[in-house]
This record gives sequence, structure tokens and C-alpha cells, in this order.
Amino acid sequence: MSKFPPIYYSDYLELDKLLSCQNLKSEEYGNSAHDEMLFIIVHQAYELWFKQVIHEINSINRMFEDDVVDEKSIGIAVSRVQRITEIQKLLIEQLKVLETMTPLDFLEFRDFLIPASGFQSFQFRLIENKLGLSDEKRIQYNNADYLNTLEPRHRDLIMQTVKRPSLLELVEKWLERTPFLSSQNFNFWESYRKSVDKMLEHDKNIIINNKTLTEKKREFQLKNIELTRQNFEVLFDESKHNELVKKGERHLSSRAMLAAIFINLYRDEPILHLPFMFLNLLVETDEQFTEWRYRHALMVHRMIGSKIGTGGSSGHQYLMSTVDKHRIFTDLFNLSTYLIPRSELPKLPEDLVKQLGFSYSNGRKYDS
Ligand code: HEM
Repeated sequence: MSKFPPIYYSDYLELDKLLSCQNLKSEEYGNSAHDEMLFIIVHQAYELWFKQVIHEINSINRMFEDDVVDEKSIGIAVSRVQRITEIQKLLIEQLKVLETMTPLDFLEFRDFLIPASGFQSFQFRLIENKLGLSDEKRIQYNNADYLNTLEPRHRDLIMQTVKRPSLLELVEKWLERTPFLSSQNFNFWESYRKSVDKMLEHDKNIIINNKTLTEKKREFQLKNIELTRQNFEVLFDESKHNELVKKGERHLSSRAMLAAIFINLYRDEPILHLPFMFLNLLVETDEQFTEWRYRHALMVHRMIGSKIGTGGSSGHQYLMSTVDKHRIFTDLFNLSTYLIPRSELPKLPEDLVKQLGFSYSNGRKYDS
């Protein structure tokens, strides 16, 4: 016998309340539209999942607010971001359910919704802000602040998130605290730079010695090598890096970038594996959000063509412009620019390898 009082399924889930929240405007106005039920339920399902995603982001952000993030927390953070990405896959798939409603069916009740719009989803804005979409990056909606479309109670909630550090900012601080980047007998910065120079010199020689290239093509490829070299230079030159941050072309500090590169390059070292997975999952979340934005924009185009949205924006056009501009972890995507082949990696000193390994490791490799 449980020491807790028995509870009835419907009561636990408060289904009476939940299932009485689907009130069709078309019915209220005496012109019942069959598909409005689907429209409401799909949106409500989204908002429930948004609530779960916020729950996960809140817990991850709390872990990273501590000055020291212990390894157990990284494991938990990894599993929670992974949960978010699984939810996102559902969110993308769900659009297909809504697309079983044709544009003509939508027209049956669309006018009853004006000026309500997904644009007013305060939970969606909370997710964006908590992850790190900054106001400077946001595309203006009808030349006005997105907050203007919300009621004060929701505006207040969103303003609170603006005051707190976002996941992007917390991850930056965490990366900046990464130890190991320079120890007494190893300076990763210098060793890595030498390896990059070697790699670029090697690529340059391949181009120079490639007899099949025309002079024009050779010149073009050598120019590209030079551009890649300049890209790497920015990484080694903090003031140039900071200029890019000012222009909004980079978001993470150069120290954080360097740490992220280190984690990516040496991810096979046991201690760096979870941090690597975590960074990789942040890239995955960003990619899923981008995919959702794109799929939603396409659906909107299909549903309303080039009409303006019920919220009054340029509809499909506005949404398409957010697809690329509202990405958050772009610096982590760009890390691939700075990766060098495993064979060129600076060898870590013994004492550092010991620090990065688990004491019970038998040193065997399992990569074939
Ligand atoms: C028939 C289906 C849908 C249509 C025609 C539609 C249309 C639009 C349009 C035109 C906008 C731009 C703002 C405006 O002027 O209204 C918008 C924004 C938005 N919609 Fe939808 N939508 C649909 C379904 C959904 C669903 C199922 C969700 C899930 C929650 C959703 C969430 C959003 C969000 C979050 C925004 C703001 C996006 C941003 O500002 O980046 N929409 N929608």
C-alpha cells in the first residue's frame, strides 16, 4: 500500500481543464469551421512543448551560473539539451499535421483570429532570449519592437530574461574558465599556430605542384589559402577578433573560441568528451530551430501566399529573413573552420594527458 492517497488519472492530469480549452471562434460566430479544432490543438501542443523546453533551459542555465560547473552537471546538461533536440524534431514534424489543412480551409476561420499571431507566443520569445538571441540581432517587425505586440504581463516576463545571462553568455564564461590551455611546459596557442602554418604550407605546395591547374585557377586557389590564413590570424589576434565582435560577426570572446577549439580537437581525451558533446548539441539545437523557422516560413507561404500575416507582418518574407539572422550559436558552427587533421595535432605533454584522462584508462584505442 502506498502512503500517498490514490489519485484518478484525469484528476492528476487535470484533463477536465485541459480538454475544455479548445473553444472555436468559428462556432462562437455561428459559422463552424471543421479545421479550427486542429489549428487550436496543434498550437496548444506547441505551447506545452515550449513549456518543457523552457523547463530544461532553466535548469541548464542554473548549472552554468555557478563559478565552477562540476562534471556531473555537464553530463546532466548533455542529456537535457539532447532532450530539447528530440522535442524539436517533434515540433518540426508537427507542422505536417497542420499542413493537412488546406489554404482554403484556413480561410474559413482566419479572419476571426486577427490580430492574434504566433508572433505573440511569449514562450517562444522566452526560449529565444534564454538561449541568447540578442535584441541587436533581432529583425524588426513592422519597424517596431517585438515587445510592443505583447500584453504587459508577458512583456514583464520577457524583460526578466533579458536581465539574466543567456545560455550563450554562460557557455562563453564557462569556456573562458577552461583550464589546460597553457600549462608550464605547454602552450596550446603557440603549438596550434605552428600546426596551422604547417597545414596551410602543405596545402599551398599541393596547389603549386598541381600541373593540371591553369594559371588562373592556381591563382584563385592560392588566394583562397591566403584568406584561410587571414581567418586563422584573427583567431590569434585578440584586437582583430574584438573588432569582429563589435561588428556582430563574432559573439564569443577569443579565449572562449580557443577553448572551444581545444575541446573539439582533443575531444578523444576522456575529460573533454562530455564538454565536446555539450557544444555539439548546442549546434544541433540551433540547427533544429533554424530548420523549424524555415519549415514554418514555407508552410506560411503555402497557406497565405504573399498576404500579410494576421499579426500584420510581411508574413512569409519576414519569417524567411529570420531563418539565418536569428541563429544563436553560429560561432560554434564556425569552429569547423579552425579544425586541423588529427595527424597534425600538437602532441600534449604527458602530465597534461594524465590530467585529461581517467585514472583507470588502459590506453587502448577503439577507433577501427
Ligand atoms: C496556418 C498555420 C500558420 C500560419 C499561416 C502562420 C503564420 C505566421 C505569420 C504570418 C507569422 C509572422 C507574424 C505575423 O504577421 O503574424 C508567424 C509568426 C510566428 N508563428 Fe506562425 N503560422 C502558422 C502556424 C504556426 C504554428 C503551429 C506555430 C507554433 C507555435 C507558429 C508559431 C509562430 C511563431 C513562434 C512566430 C514568430 C516567429 C518569429 O518572429 O520569428 N505558427 N506565423
